[in-house]
Amino acid sequence: MDFYAENILDHFKNRRNWRVLDPADVDHEENNPLCGDHLRLTLRVKDDVITDVGWAGDGCAICMASASMLGEELVGKTLEEAKHITKEHVMENIGVPLGAVRVKCALLSLKVLKVGAYGLAGWRDEEK
Ligand code: FES
Repeated sequence: MDFYAENILDHFKNRRNWRVLDPADVDHEENNPLCGDHLRLTLRVKDDVITDVGWAGDGCAICMASASMLGEELVGKTLEEAKHITKEHVMENIGVPLGAVRVKCALLSLKVLKVGAYGLAGWRDEEK
């Protein structure tokens, strides 16, 4: 198994930051319209810096692994830095080519972040 496949499996089996933060400064859930799976993100923010991350929800291995990887990167970032995380970056984290359906799985975590933390509703509209 190559590094990326192993990494996906590791993050799927040993999901980082898998819990709901309560209280949280951001608490938002989105779903993947193609499969109905859903992902919830809770964030704690202090002085514009993300100090803690919690994920919860259901999804496939790609979706869960993507959230786990993204969550690890969020802690310590300013909100402005996190806002500029790109789809391309998330796909680089995954590291394996994905079909169009699976790309939605991989990007669900970023969608929750963008819509929940920044109100970037365009992310939701792209799927219609
Ligand atoms: Fe539902 Fe991947 S199949 S998130």
